[in-house]
Amino acid sequence: MNILVTGGAGFIGSHLCDTLIKQGHNVFNIDNFNDYYDVKIKRANVSHHINNPSYTLIETDIRDFDSLEQIFSDNRIDLVVHLAAMAGVRPSIENPLLYEDVNVRGTINLLDLCKKYKVTKFIFASSSSVYGNNKSAPFSETDVVDFAISPYAATKKSGEIVGHVYHHLYNIDMILLRFFTVYGPRQRPDLAIHKFTNLISQGMELPFYGDGQTSRDYTYIDDIISGIVNSIHYIEENNNVYEIINLGGSQTISLSEMLLTIENGLGIQAKINRMSYQPGDVERTHADITKAKRLIGYNPSIKFIDGIKEFISWYNQYIKKD
Ligand SMILES: NC(=O)c1ccc[n+]([C@@H]2O[C@H](COP(=O)([O-])OP(=O)(O)OC[C@H]3O[C@@H](n4cnc5c(N)ncnc54)[C@H](O)[C@@H]3O)[C@@H](O)[C@H]2O)c1
Repeated sequence: MNILVTGGAGFIGSHLCDTLIKQGHNVFNIDNFNDYYDVKIKRANVSHHINNPSYTLIETDIRDFDSLEQIFSDNRIDLVVHLAAMAGVRPSIENPLLYEDVNVRGTINLLDLCKKYKVTKFIFASSSSVYGNNKSAPFSETDVVDFAISPYAATKKSGEIVGHVYHHLYNIDMILLRFFTVYGPRQRPDLAIHKFTNLISQGMELPFYGDGQTSRDYTYIDDIISGIVNSIHYIEENNNVYEIINLGGSQTISLSEMLLTIENGLGIQAKINRMSYQPGDVERTHADITKAKRLIGYNPSIKFIDGIKEFISWYNQYIKKD
C-alpha cells in the first residue's frame, strides 16, 4: 500500500514508518521538522531510511494546502495516518492559536485533499487528554468529552469532530485513536519520563508537581505501533468505518512510582523540588481498552519497568551528554 504518514519524523511517527517499511509498504512522510524540540533528534529518527526507495520524505507544513496538494496529485495515496501536530499540553496554554492552526486547520487541509483525491481511509492521532478530568475511570470511548482543560485537548477533540464531518459527508473511513501517554526510545524530550531522566542523570534538581499521586496510563511505543497497524488492517478490510478507539497500556502508574522506576533504572537518586499542580494537567488517565481488544485485537504487553529499561538504554546511547 502507499501510506501517507504525517509527522513521521517525530517520536511515534518514526517508529510507525520503520514498521510500515519493514512490512513492505511505500511510505510518504510529511514533516516540517519544526523546532518544538531538538531537530537533531528528528533527523536521527529518519536518517536510516533516506536512501530507501520505499520511503519518500517530504519536508513541508500541513498548513500549506498547495504543497500538500502537490503530494496528492503526484502520487496515488491509499491511506493516511495523520500524526503531525503540536503535541505539548502546557505550551498550548501559552500559544493556543498556533495549536489551533496546526492541529485543526492542518487536519482539515488533509481531509479536504482526501475528499478531492478520493482517499477514503484516514487514521488520526487523538489523545487521552480529551477526557479532561473525567470523573469515572477507566475512561471509555462512550464517556462525554466536552470538558477539555487545555487548548491542546480542545484541538484534538476538534480533530475528532471534523473527522466525523468528513466521514459523514464524503464517506471517508475514519479511525480516531486516543493515545494514552506514550513512552519508549525516541520519546519527546518535553515529556516527563524523558525530562526526569535528563535531569536525574545530569544531577540536576527536578520539578515535582503535586504530591506524587497523580497517575498516568503509560503505553509503550511498540504497543501503540501494533495498535496503529491493527487499525490499518481493520480500516482496509471494512467499509463505512467511523470508530474512536482508546490505545492505552491499561495499568496506571503514579508520578512517585514513575520517578522511582527511573531512579532504579539509572541507579541514581533524584534531587526533587516540590511544586504545586500545573494548570492544564489532568489528575489521572486510565484507558478502558475493551473496545480496542474486541475490534482490532489490541493487546498491550510491555510492563512499565521493562519499557523504562528500553527507554534508558536508548537515552544512554543517543542523548546522554557525558
Ligand atoms: N506522545 C504521546 O504521549 C501522545 C499522546 C497522545 C497523543 N499523541 C499524538 O500523537 C501524535 C504524535 O506525537 P509524538 O509524541 O510523536 O509527537 P512529535 O512532536 O514527536 O511528532 C510530531 C511530528 O509532527 C511534526 N509536525 C508538527 N507540526 C507540523 C506541521 N505543521 N507540518 C508538518 N509536520 C509537523 C513535528 O515536526 C514532529 O516530527 C501527535 O498528534 C500527538 O498529539 C501523542
